[in-house]
Amino acid sequence: MKKIISVVGARPNFMKVAPIHKAFQKFNSEVRHLICHTGQHYDKKMSKVFFEDLEMPYPDFYLGVGSGSHAEQTANVMIEFEKVLLSEKPDLIIVVGDVNSTVACSLVASKLNIKVAHVEAGLRSFDRAMPEEINRLLTDSISDYLFVSEKSGLVNLKNEGISQNKVHFVGNVMIDSLIYYLPKAERSSILRTYGLTSFKYLLVTLHRPSNVDSKDFLKDLMKLFENLSVERQILFPVHPRTKKNLIEAGYGNNHNRNVILTEPIGYIDFLSLTKNAELIITDSGGIQEESTYLGVQCLTVRNITERPVTVEV
Ligand code: UD1
Repeated sequence: MKKIISVVGARPNFMKVAPIHKAFQKFNSEVRHLICHTGQHYDKKMSKVFFEDLEMPYPDFYLGVGSGSHAEQTANVMIEFEKVLLSEKPDLIIVVGDVNSTVACSLVASKLNIKVAHVEAGLRSFDRAMPEEINRLLTDSISDYLFVSEKSGLVNLKNEGISQNKVHFVGNVMIDSLIYYLPKAERSSILRTYGLTSFKYLLVTLHRPSNVDSKDFLKDLMKLFENLSVERQILFPVHPRTKKNLIEAGYGNNHNRNVILTEPIGYIDFLSLTKNAELIITDSGGIQEESTYLGVQCLTVRNITERPVTVEV
């Protein structure tokens, strides 16, 4: 019996591990699949609701590391995850995406000679000012199995000299989740909750430090949304990082009834909002991919993307 531990840490990880966990259930006489949640994201609306929506079991390990500087957060995940690996001795760990938990756990496992599989390998923005780019480069360079979601990833890994026999072009597990949960999303009442009409509203999400950590830029974006809202209602579920900065920029009490600011929204309801939007304005890599798959127009608020397929399509 093989033992495999999959790592989740931040919101975009949950919908990637859910279909992997489901797939392993078919092999439960050969593989014991465990889930470790680092606690990088911990608010109910950033974490627990996703476990519920995605029908995932309670994590087998919860490291409770919380927020901090990059070094603090990464180091705390490493210290706690090493204890799990030393006591569990898995045959393989699976990390997904590009968050601090991804790089922290792969580093710990590789130093203990435990094999590492990276799901969503090879994506590159070529912008090393993005913390995620550093996480991607480091994780890929120490992983034993690299599972690639789009063709640009194959080219990037080849250019970096990564042995081709480690690389597997497998498609996108986040889209597997989307397909699986779409029927449930069709039954969501979230549009009614906010008084929205299908294909007549814009959906906005912003959380990248490059967009939301500058008060002036954030104010410019809010002015843009206010101008757009003369024509269309705008729903803007606000990430905790963005919330802090919006309050500092004087948008704590937004009274423009056409720009609706909300708390973060769960997976199923957000899928319904994505599918029915006329246009999405986002800096989230995951939402770029989901809107591309659904054929919904998406404006990506970034100078560059590690997911070029979302622009080409
Ligand atoms: C992280 C990932 C980013 C991913 C994003 C998705 C890294 C480097 N960044 O960014 O790649 O796109 O998640 O959401 O791993 N906070 C809360 N509650 C929470 C979590 C965070 O209030 O449950 C607040 C804290 O003030 C924290 C801040 O949000 O300091 C930022 O959280 P953090 O996990 O450091 O980075 P994200 O911006 O969420």
